[in-house]
Amino acid sequence: MANLSKITCIEDLRRIARIKVPKMFYDYCDSGSWTESTYRSNESDFQKIKFRQRVAVNMEGRSLKTKMIGLDTAMPVAIAPTGLTGMQRADGEILAAKAAERFGVPFTLSTMSICSIEDIAAHTSAPFWFQLYVMRDKDFIERLIDRAKAANCSALMLTLDLQVLGQRHKDIKNGLSTPPKPTLMNLLNLATKPEWCWHMMQTKRRTFGNIVGHAKGVGDLSSLASWTAEQFDPALSWDDVEWIKKRWGGKLIIKGIMDKEDALRAADCGADSIVVSNHGGRQLDGAPSSISATPAIIEAIKNHGSPTEVWMDGGIRSGQDVLRAVALGAKGTLIGRSFLYGLGAYGQEGVTRALQIIANELDISMAFCGHTNINTVNKDILIMDK
Ligand SMILES: Cc1cc2nc3c(=O)[nH]c(=O)nc-3n(C[C@H](O)[C@H](O)[C@H](O)COP(=O)(O)O)c2cc1C
Repeated sequence: MANLSKITCIEDLRRIARIKVPKMFYDYCDSGSWTESTYRSNESDFQKIKFRQRVAVNMEGRSLKTKMIGLDTAMPVAIAPTGLTGMQRADGEILAAKAAERFGVPFTLSTMSICSIEDIAAHTSAPFWFQLYVMRDKDFIERLIDRAKAANCSALMLTLDLQVLGQRHKDIKNGLSTPPKPTLMNLLNLATKPEWCWHMMQTKRRTFGNIVGHAKGVGDLSSLASWTAEQFDPALSWDDVEWIKKRWGGKLIIKGIMDKEDALRAADCGADSIVVSNHGGRQLDGAPSSISATPAIIEAIKNHGSPTEVWMDGGIRSGQDVLRAVALGAKGTLIGRSFLYGLGAYGQEGVTRALQIIANELDISMAFCGHTNINTVNKDILIMDK
């Protein structure tokens, strides 16, 4: 067990992950598309939202417990779906899912994960969420949905903002692949990451577990890259969303909404929740930050009279950011890089540490703002620009 008492903020975890994780996978995590302006503003726009400090309020008996789409969670935070998580650390999705289960927050498994749906089901007992990308091969989507059902997933998260891929310069320059190709540059870099290599040698999970061996024509890695480029469906439409909702039949979360009209369309499709998200600044560079887009979408859904919950993700690096999002009306949030840094730094313990840091910051900041229950927090705790 590592002594993590001196790890006091997410930035500490990021710095250690940068040392421990091979460059191509660290860069894959810590980057956005093109100029990275949206990636940066996702974080920096949170800082513009100021709190009202209150005093002499009884701060005893505080609670962060809430519900997201009717499911109990220890705080309004879930683990976001992230591809290649098992390359930040061997068996990364299993480790993160275990940490989430013990902490009492939902875990979402990406279609593009290294560990498979069945791997997560075998190593956890709490139901997890499965994130689906829409692909041209509808038979494959049906099989993925059936596998998620068989694994007892309690919600399907449908990501709509990746019909085509936003260009991330670093991934191209690094020649991102899984497992890494044995080039001189990669071998030199891996030689500086002994802990990562050691863990990776203990596992067999080094490729896309939900895909290889399950999708037509993908038996090995060499065909996978072309399969991915060919398979993400650029013709995706709301009809597909409705078809998927029907086929799944359970709770549906629609992720990647940045526009009021799309939010209303998603609500009309019967989404239980929408996630205001620009994919962590990895898709449309130049889009506004997620937190700045959130209030208008909440307002639109409210005026529409729809029961759809509005969540947000992008740029959350502290419990204070979660508090800001909740104060603006988000019923929940997702964290991506904050948990990935913890995973890359210290595996399961690092994810737990990331969750502890966020919960602690959320709890104390909520108290400073004069609240003892996260469910009573609202805009009144913020100083709004007139
Ligand atoms: C390395 C990485 C991989 C990602 N892969 C996926 C994915 O497979 N599916 C998906 O819906 N979103 C994916 N995302 C987006 C996240 O779900 C989430 O929207 C984003 O990370 C939130 O921003 P944050 O990292 O600043 O918290 C990925 C994000 C990162 C950082």
